Amino acid sequence: MAKVQSSGNDFCPQSLFLYGNYEENGTPHFGLFCWFSYCWLDSGLGVMACIGEEKTTKDLIRKTGVFSANLVNEPLLPLADYYGSTSGRENPDKMKRLPTIERGRVLNVPLIAESPVNFELKVLSERNLSPGCDLFVCRAENALMDERLKDQSLPVIERMKIAQPVSTVAESTYVNFFGQELGKWGGIAKGAEAINRPRP
Ligand SMILES: Cc1cc2nc3c(=O)[nH]c(=O)nc-3n(C[C@H](O)[C@H](O)[C@H](O)COP(=O)(O)O)c2cc1C
Repeated sequence: MAKVQSSGNDFCPQSLFLYGNYEENGTPHFGLFCWFSYCWLDSGLGVMACIGEEKTTKDLIRKTGVFSANLVNEPLLPLADYYGSTSGRENPDKMKRLPTIERGRVLNVPLIAESPVNFELKVLSERNLSPGCDLFVCRAENALMDERLKDQSLPVIERMKIAQPVSTVAESTYVNFFGQELGKWGGIAKGAEAINRPRP
């Protein structure tokens, strides 16, 4: 195979997560993230989450020391795209659109009911990597998944069709794991109206 010089991680699929926290007044807050991966800590599953620039999500993680990570599936994508293309600092009413919220079972974090996999994360350490870019090493205090994903009578690929996770691979494009392009970053947020829930 002939190789050409690459500028980065194009075609290295990244799973998308919505990081959740509670604002001081109790309103759930979400931002969209893909710099997310796993590690193993003595005490169990660990997560490495990298956040660039100062933003509401980072403010809240620093303030509370915890957050949720909710796997983005196809039905959630319009809302996730809206959360990823709308700055919390610049849009105080960003959270006028909300999914169905459940309280964390172990930590005080908002979980997205429509998401097939939720992590409740406690920050163990923060490391500054470059100006504005910070790595949060976290311990998964709890992990939940759609009970259908545990059904080992179904082949894994059938359960992937249930989970419907969304990835991004290159050129600001959302894709699924079944060969379909789902749209461009910031280009499908308008559909969020269809699945949002009115704020209580
Ligand atoms: C597909 C996608 C992936 C993103 N991944 C990250 C990421 O891993 N790290 C990051 O700092 N920002 C990432 N962003 C940008 C944040 O979602 C964006 O800054 C958003 O405004 C954060 O919400 P907040 O301003 O309410 O904190 C991503 C945006 C998109 C559209």
